[in-house]
Amino acid sequence: MKAAVLHALGELPRFEDVPEPVPGEGQEIVHVTACPLTNLDRVLAAGTHFASRAELPAVCGTLAVGRLADGLRVLFRSPGGTMAERAVTRREWCTPIPDGLDDEPAAAIQNPGVSTWAALEWRAKLRAGERVLVLGATGVAGRIAVQLAERLGASRVVGAGRNPRVLASLRELGADATIRLDQPEDALRAAFRAEGGFDVVVDYLWGRPTEVFISTLGSSDMELRFSRTRLIQVGTMAGAQVALPAEILRSSGLEVVGFGTGNAPPAADLARLLGRVLDLVAGGDLRIDVNRVPLAQVQEVWNLDQKGTRTVLIP
Ligand SMILES: NC(=O)c1ccc[n+]([C@@H]2O[C@H](COP(=O)([O-])OP(=O)(O)OC[C@H]3O[C@@H](n4cnc5c(N)ncnc54)[C@H](OP(=O)(O)O)[C@@H]3O)[C@@H](O)[C@H]2O)c1
Repeated sequence: MKAAVLHALGELPRFEDVPEPVPGEGQEIVHVTACPLTNLDRVLAAGTHFASRAELPAVCGTLAVGRLADGLRVLFRSPGGTMAERAVTRREWCTPIPDGLDDEPAAAIQNPGVSTWAALEWRAKLRAGERVLVLGATGVAGRIAVQLAERLGASRVVGAGRNPRVLASLRELGADATIRLDQPEDALRAAFRAEGGFDVVVDYLWGRPTEVFISTLGSSDMELRFSRTRLIQVGTMAGAQVALPAEILRSSGLEVVGFGTGNAPPAADLARLLGRVLDLVAGGDLRIDVNRVPLAQVQEVWNLDQKGTRTVLIP
């Protein structure tokens, strides 16, 4: 069968023939129909993620949509790779896809949908009426964050990003305002300050944009006050590090936590979240745009900027 195979960390995967997967005990074969290309796939293959594989060659991809032997249409995960015509999975790693939802959006929504909802609800404990800033709002996950923040009752949602076309589209997704990140830093600081404070920041960027935002927090007097800004670190598109001045932590209510595999909700809660996210997309209440590409073109599209649209590979 054909698959996208990584031969060395840092290389592009190759579209080539591999042996059919052999199910182990408790596993079954799934016929793959749609496989999202996420930034997680890219950093795993680049060797820059803490979970990058040591044993290569290996089939890329961690989740996809497919059909089990009995015809059930599922979103599934597989540690053996999913960017292939067939993969192995276990029933407990499968979530049935609601009727009316196409394979491609179902495949695309799992990673940004579940992680964003969990970041807002589980890590930030977002309450109705709070003000939310999304750093990296022009990305696939950022666009989901704008929609879910509004759905979870935020009173104001501000999206920050660079791409002007995608930034402009955030209003129709529920953003109350947008901020251009590619402006001089003094102007960017002024734009953040003009918003008057945020309760929750969902951060897909880190690096310099997040440093500039953090620099707008803090006070220069010794008045006693209580404030909280819960910054949820989710992605590192703009850098792996930030400088965090101690005085900001003492003179503001900044709280920094991450969301990822190391601090995820219990599996049953995640499964419930996934079901809710799939139902929202199926009902047209959560939008994710997809770009269908044949798996044979995996190399050509691997590093393309997705511009707010998720590439979904079709075996
Ligand atoms: N922890 C988790 O569970 C989890 C789950 C999902 C995603 N993530 C991570 O979240 C991040 C975003 O994912 P995604 O799917 O939304 O990616 P994406 O669709 O590729 O979007 C990338 C975003 O990053 C922005 N960006 C890239 N380089 C930048 C730079 N140098 N300065 C400022 N902005 C920059 C882009 O802005 P413009 O397009 O405006 O230029 C865009 O908003 C990734 O790091 C991903 O791995 C983590």
